[in-house]
Amino acid sequence: MYIKKPPAMSTEGKITEHWTHGSLAEAIMAALEKAGVDTARPSVRDLEPMDHLHGGGAEATRGLLARLSPRSGRHILDIGSGIGGPARLLASEYGCRVTGIDLTREFCDVAVMLTERTGLDDRVSFRQASALDLPFDDACFDGAYSQNVSMNISDKAAFYGEACRVLKPGGLFVAAEIAEGPEGPPFFPVPWALTPENSHLSKLDEISDLLAAAGFRDIEIIDQTAAMMDFHQRARARIAAEGEPVLSPKVVIGEDADERLGNSVRGVGEKRVIPLEVVCRKPNTKDQ
Ligand SMILES: C[S@@+](CC[C@H](N)C(=O)[O-])C[C@H]1O[C@@H](n2cnc3c(N)ncnc32)[C@H](O)[C@@H]1O
Repeated sequence: MYIKKPPAMSTEGKITEHWTHGSLAEAIMAALEKAGVDTARPSVRDLEPMDHLHGGGAEATRGLLARLSPRSGRHILDIGSGIGGPARLLASEYGCRVTGIDLTREFCDVAVMLTERTGLDDRVSFRQASALDLPFDDACFDGAYSQNVSMNISDKAAFYGEACRVLKPGGLFVAAEIAEGPEGPPFFPVPWALTPENSHLSKLDEISDLLAAAGFRDIEIIDQTAAMMDFHQRARARIAAEGEPVLSPKVVIGEDADERLGNSVRGVGEKRVIPLEVVCRKPNTKDQ
């Protein structure tokens, strides 16, 4: 008897499967209700403890986005926008127009739903797409950012190449990333991968070469280890004093969140991984 094998899952299919919760909108609504938030009209600040899906929370988002020098009316691309916390923060605090793309359909749907409820849908939109094949014309964004996404991407040349292509000349690209440290690899599971199969970390010294090859200039790479450890110490002290908060990224990450987040922090402490920020610019045409 011939038994047809199911088709092998693509790399992007595995990433989407990793991030898909299954009933995320319901889980978020239940958590907001439990926290006493008006679920029909939450504010961006109400959602903030839960909708920044990276170490460092909204504090790290504010630090990264300040490096973009955002100004009202600018059109900014969020590559790997998750459930939209960073995009809503950028629109509400700086008045930017933000377009987010993410591979995970469920995250895009939740991002749209939360954005409508915060009343920011005139300025912030989301669509399902891959960072490796951005559905936009060349040179159409004033700036772009990506927070904790590249760890899921093996083809970094395509990732940085696409970010550079869609930026206007002179536009800034900033990213929060995690590099493999001298004592790597990470302890698994981590938030971005349960096993090494979905984890694609570059070494620190490879990143600037990849950015330069993609066309970026004025490249700066800033080690965030101290800031990240400080954030986690403060978070731990707060939990010890006040108990577990109802609203946190754990609502999105799911039941094994403590183990995955704990491994991530331990990996930073033991130099298995290095959190960093990248800042670079697409050259102006006259500088090329
Ligand atoms: C750790 S979450 C960060 C989400 C968001 N940037 C934030 O900080 O709140 C990583 C996100 O990257 C997205 N992602 C991973 N690979 C991607 C790809 N190739 N294209 C677009 N999004 C991708 C995942 O779907 C997930 O939403």
